[in-house]
Amino acid sequence: MFSSSSSSSCFLFLNGVVVSSPPETPPISVFLQNHPGAYTTTRTHSNASLILFWDRHLLRLAQSTSIIAQSKPGFFYHPQTAAAAATISSWDALIRPLVTQSLQSGLPIVCKERSEEEIVITTLVSGDSRPSSDGLDVYVHFGAYAPIGFVGRESGARLAVVGPGREIANAKFSEWVRVRKGLEKLRPPSVTELLLSNDGDRILEGSITNFFVVCSRDVNEALGDLNEPRSSFPFEVQTAPVSGGVLPGVIRQLILEVCSSLGIPLREVAPSWANRELWKEAFVTSSLRLVQHVEKVQAPSSWESLQSKTWKEVSWVEKQFEGPGPITTEIQKELTQRACAEGYPLNSFL
Ligand SMILES: *[C@@H]1O[C@H](CO)[C@@H](O)[C@H](O)[C@H]1NC(C)=O
Repeated sequence: MFSSSSSSSCFLFLNGVVVSSPPETPPISVFLQNHPGAYTTTRTHSNASLILFWDRHLLRLAQSTSIIAQSKPGFFYHPQTAAAAATISSWDALIRPLVTQSLQSGLPIVCKERSEEEIVITTLVSGDSRPSSDGLDVYVHFGAYAPIGFVGRESGARLAVVGPGREIANAKFSEWVRVRKGLEKLRPPSVTELLLSNDGDRILEGSITNFFVVCSRDVNEALGDLNEPRSSFPFEVQTAPVSGGVLPGVIRQLILEVCSSLGIPLREVAPSWANRELWKEAFVTSSLRLVQHVEKVQAPSSWESLQSKTWKEVSWVEKQFEGPGPITTEIQKELTQRACAEGYPLNSFL
C-alpha cells in the first residue's frame, strides 16, 4: 500500500512551515495513525510534472472536513474551536491557501531530493488544539512512489471479503487507519486488499479502494430498451452507492463519468456475492494505483462470528478472474487520458 513511501524520503509541513525532514519524518501510514483528521492522498505522474486530479482532491477534503466537523465535534479538540467550526460555510476557502503555502514551501525541496520516483502528497486537516486560536492545522506529507505505469503492467488484486463497513464512510478520516489494523487478522497473507460488507453478501468497498464488478445482465431486461446506445450490451458495471456507506472516492466518481461518456451501462448497487456467477470482470480503484484489475475474490463460507476469528480459522470460497477484461481495459485507458487532461501542473508551485 504505502510501503513505497519509506521514512527516509518523507517531508512534513504544517501551514506552510516545515515540521520534519528525512530521516525523522514518519511514513504516511504511521503519520495517519497518530493524527486524527480528514485527509486525502494523491500523487504526481508523468515524471512529477502533474498532480493527479488535484482540484477534485481538495474539494473532497473540504467535504470530508465539513462532514466530520458536524458528526464528530470532538475532532476539533477544543470546545471553542468546535463552536467556531460549526459556523464555517466554506471549508475549501480556509483549507486551500494553507495547503498551497505548504506546497510552495515543500515542493521545491522535495523535487530537488527526488530521483526518478513520483511524489505522494497527503493533506490532512485537523482542529487547532490551541485554545486561544481559531485556526486550522493543515498538514502536508510528501513521500515517494515508485511508478508502475498506468495501464497493463500491473498484477491483479487479490481480495477477501470481511466486515463490517466503515463508520462515517462518506468522509475520509484518519481514524479509519487504526480501525483497519484490527481487520488485518482476517487477511490471508496472499490477499492484497480487504473488501468490506455488513452482511457477507452486498460488497460495499475495499479498505483503501472502491470496488467494481462487470456483471452480466438479465438478457430479457437488456433487450427491453434497444433505443439507448449500447443498452443492448449484456452487462453493466456495478459499484455500491455512496448512500450505502462507501467513501466517495475521487477515482470512483471519475469511473462514473467515464462510463457515462463511453456509454457503458453502470448501476450504483452493491455487488452481490451470491450473484458472483454473473461477474465477468472486477476492478478496484484508488488514487495511487487508479484502476487495478481483480484476479481473485474470496469470501467466508459462513459470516457467523467472523469478528472473533483469524484468517486461518475461516473457510473461504473463491471466485477467479482471467486477467484484465476488455471493459476494465477500456475504462482504464479513458481514465489515463483524463489524468493527463486534468493533471495540475506541479511547476505552478515552484
Ligand atoms: C524526470 O525528471 C528529472 C528531473 O526533473 C530529470 O532529470 C529526468 O531526466 C526526467 N526523466 C525522464 C525519463 O524524463
